[in-house]
Order: sequence, then C-alpha cells, then structure tokens
Amino acid sequence: MNTLKIAALAGDGIGPEVMREALKVLHAVERRFGLRLEITEAPVGWAGIDAAGSALPEETLALCKRSQAILFGSVGLPDRDPALPKEQRPERAALLRLRKEFGLFANLRPVRLPPELAHACPLRPERQGEGIDLLVVRELVGGMYFGHPKHTEEIQGPQGRIQRAIDTMVYTTPEIERIARVAFDAARRRRGKLTNVDKANVLENGVLWREVVTRLAAEYPEVRLEHLFVDNAAMQLMLRPAQFDVLLCENMFGDILSDEAAALAGSLGMVPSASLGEACGRTRFGFYEPAGGTAPDLAGRNVANPIAQILSAALMLRFSFGLDEAAQAVEAAVQRVIAAGLRTGDIYSAAEGGARRVGTSEMGDAIAAAI
Ligand code: IPM
Ligand code: MG
Repeated sequence: MNTLKIAALAGDGIGPEVMREALKVLHAVERRFGLRLEITEAPVGWAGIDAAGSALPEETLALCKRSQAILFGSVGLPDRDPALPKEQRPERAALLRLRKEFGLFANLRPVRLPPELAHACPLRPERQGEGIDLLVVRELVGGMYFGHPKHTEEIQGPQGRIQRAIDTMVYTTPEIERIARVAFDAARRRRGKLTNVDKANVLENGVLWREVVTRLAAEYPEVRLEHLFVDNAAMQLMLRPAQFDVLLCENMFGDILSDEAAALAGSLGMVPSASLGEACGRTRFGFYEPAGGTAPDLAGRNVANPIAQILSAALMLRFSFGLDEAAQAVEAAVQRVIAAGLRTGDIYSAAEGGARRVGTSEMGDAIAAAI
C-alpha cells in the first residue's frame, strides 16, 4: 500500500478543534483498513500570519504541492486587524489563492438532513417533504470572484470625486463545460436530476451558461435537466427542497445557495465540501473543508460540531484516494453516532427524547470508536 500524503491545515477559529477530531477519525480508518497516511500539519490563515508573517506561508504552500490532498479547517477572523490590506487577508491570500493555484474548479457541497435531525431543520416537517438530500456543484475559480477588471478607482462624479468599485463576471465555454460535466456525472450517479441555476434573463453570462449546459445535456440522456433562475432557486430551496438532486451554479450563486442549502441540513456544522481539480488517473488532487467558517464565537470552547470536518475527510478518502469503502465507513460511523443520540449544541434540542449533548472532542471520540 502506498503512503497517502495529506496536508492538514487547521487555520483559525474552530479550525484546530474540529481538525483534531477529523485526524482522530482518520487514524481509526488507517488502523481498520491498513492504510498508510502521512499527515503533515502546517499553519494557514491568521495562524500563518502569526507563525510566519503570511496567510499562506511559503512552507505551507510547498507542503501542499508535495501532498495529494489538502484537509483544510477554516480561515478568516473578520474582527482581527482591520488595517491589514484585503489582498493579504486570509480569505483572499490563502483560500482563494489555493483554489486558483491548484485549479480547484469543482466545488461539491452535499447537503443531507438525517431523519433523526428533522427537528434541527428550520423548515416545518411538511415542507421537508420526503427528505432533503441534495448536492450543490459550484464553479470555484471563475466568475466574479476572479474576473478582471477588479479594482476600486476614483472618478469624477457630478459633485466632485467619488469612488467606483468594479468586479467582472466572466466565463468561457470550456470553463462552463468542465463544471457542467462534473454536475451531469454526479446527477447520473445519484437520482438523475440536474437543476441548472443561472440568471439568463439578465446576464450575458447566464445566457451562455444555459446554452452550454443545454447543449451538453444531449450527452447525458439519463439525466433530467431543468433550468431555474437563481432568485427562484433560492425560493424553491425554502419551499420545496426535496425536489432537488444536483444543483449546478456559477461561483457567486453557488456561494450563496450552498449556505442557504446548508441551513436545511440542520447546521452548517454538518456540511462537508470537496474542491477538485482535473482528474488524473485514479487519484485526484483535492481540497476538503467544512462548508461553515471559523465561527469565532464558538472557538476554544469545545462546543463546535466536528462532523463537517470529519465528513470532509471522508470525501477526501473517496475523491482523492479512490477509497470508497473507507469513506463509507466514516459516513456510516457519523450516522451511527447520530442515531445513538449524540448531539453537539448546534443540533441539540431538549425536546428530543434520548438525545445527549456532548462537546467537540466527545463527538470525535465516538465517531472514531464507531469506525
Ligand atoms: C465559501 C466561503 C468563501 C467564499 C469565503 C470565505 C472567501 O464563503 O467557501 O463559501 O466566498 O468562497
Ligand atoms: Mg460561502
């Protein structure tokens, strides 16, 4: 068995606490499946600034390049040092830079509401329908996040100098095609339904996006394709989330809708994500992180939910290493622990009989023990 090289970048806020639990679970997987994982930890985000003066220290980047996958916690503490220029802040200098550097164009965010957690979903039971189980496929290295021109400038206004900020939404047909293929492939392996989300009634990008997706549909006859404008998609997610299987979105729409969808899963602390580059053979470089952020209000108190980080590790086993059985073992362990009634604060309700409120480390211990 080859050694699997993993860079573990815990980052800021609750990152280190939830990462610790994910590593526990990975070590349990290592023992059960006889794998050899070489996990190297390195600082990123404010932790990188504190340790080495940069949100993405050179050594951390070098480690990522030597690795086959990055298991990432979260970065960014909005209240820290407002004077630090935006280009050097962790969101842009670490997270967006890593996405671009490794060409991680495909972001997958699976949102599932386990029946046991129906009480944690903000929707009334009748709106939850037959169950919420959907996948947001988000384009991650294009659109308004990265398009040029992108700057703030000073111009002459009618009554003196004013500022003007410019972001540019730009997509080419190959960029749309490659992410659409990821979404069609995912839909084919799931329930066969793909909802394309765009704003074709207003944006040039929307028109092109819809044309390309529609053209590709001919190659996937087993997938039912439908189109929704993004505003309608946001509303439908609240009204009838069970109708969705796979949602395909450009970068910005996917950012927004994936948070909205994650709320349906009971808590952001339940939603993992995978960010993938082009496949090469059986392994694929990938970046795995919880969909929730640093949650500074929860940090350091042993209360954060580690499940999103643990499920992100499962996605890593599946997508970067092709270890589907090991990934399933992690997912089943999470499911067993939830069925047994263990709850971190975000998914706990006193009204739920048989549930027991636990801290971050106890949740991680229980999942590792269930592997
Ligand atoms: C996400 C986050 C990031 C994004 C931020 C932290 C830059 O919201 O991964 O969804 O906007 O992509
Ligand atoms: Mg987001």
